[in-house]
Amino acid sequence: MSRILVTGATGHLGKATLEHLLKNTTADNIVALARDENKAAALKEKGVEVRIGDFEDTASLDTAMQGISKVLLISGTELHRFQQHKNVVDAAKKADVKYIVYTSVSMNDVNTSAIKFLMASHFQTEDYIKESGLTYTLLRNSLYADTIPMFLGEKVLETGIYLPAGEGKISFALRDEMAEATAKVLTTDEHENKTYSLTNVETYTYQDIAQILSEISGKNVNYFSPAVDEYVKTLTDAGVPKAYIDVLSGFALAMAKDEFGLVSNDLGQLLGRKPSTIKALLKTIY
Ligand SMILES: NC(=O)c1ccc[n+]([C@@H]2O[C@H](COP(=O)([O-])OP(=O)(O)OC[C@H]3O[C@@H](n4cnc5c(N)ncnc54)[C@H](OP(=O)(O)O)[C@@H]3O)[C@@H](O)[C@H]2O)c1
Repeated sequence: MSRILVTGATGHLGKATLEHLLKNTTADNIVALARDENKAAALKEKGVEVRIGDFEDTASLDTAMQGISKVLLISGTELHRFQQHKNVVDAAKKADVKYIVYTSVSMNDVNTSAIKFLMASHFQTEDYIKESGLTYTLLRNSLYADTIPMFLGEKVLETGIYLPAGEGKISFALRDEMAEATAKVLTTDEHENKTYSLTNVETYTYQDIAQILSEISGKNVNYFSPAVDEYVKTLTDAGVPKAYIDVLSGFALAMAKDEFGLVSNDLGQLLGRKPSTIKALLKTIY
């Protein structure tokens, strides 16, 4: 039996990947790693074995890896996640797991990026996996279209879009389609030691998004791209916490520089169809 351990199983991407995995294989082939048993209750009900573990707790990872043949390492959420990812890779090696799939990021020029502080860990992890000797597949995910509302704010239909993302092009794709492609990679052959870019086949600017929102809502949604200093001051004056402003402004600057504009056919090929446009998703949200 080929058993697949999925980390981040209680998060958005992990849950969606598990849903797709359950269509491709039986529940007894799937093990979910969770920090919180309660959050994993729904998975247990579906017959998925839940193992409790934390990227910080190497003993828990050693236990979780027993009898596993493939690991899906969904990247963590902390700034120091490279060390956490190393812990997972090391535990996999120690337990003689043969294969690891890692969710990385599709981006240009991380070294000159305003969000190098967040993103460099993806490429460090990729290198560490390649050096580990494990068979791997690296899934370089584009930005989730599902995160667009975070950059728009709650009152976007009244206020318009205010974001220093310039005319930057972004190959936003749906998180659920990335999950579907991830489940496919985990349950089919010929992905050994390959790197895929899970991006849309078209790019969008925030001007395009304003246009889509205008069509959906029937309102005139404008896009204004301020200087980043002005943006930071506006958010600071509105009481937004600095750490949040750093992330929003860093992503906006990266988007403005087309750092998330890479386009590839990999996602479409794994899905066996063209990736969805972002319009249908935005329609369900707005
Ligand atoms: N491409 C994009 O646009 C984009 C956007 C956001 C994030 N990401 C990256 O992609 C990953 C998956 O996205 P998502 O939307 O599924 O994120 P999410 O909903 O925040 O899920 C993150 C998952 O990681 C788990 N986790 C965090 N720290 C852990 C630790 N120390 N030990 C074990 N598990 C831990 C969380 O467990 P709990 O449920 O217990 O918290 C959760 O299950 C994120 O973690 C992040 O690295 C990508």
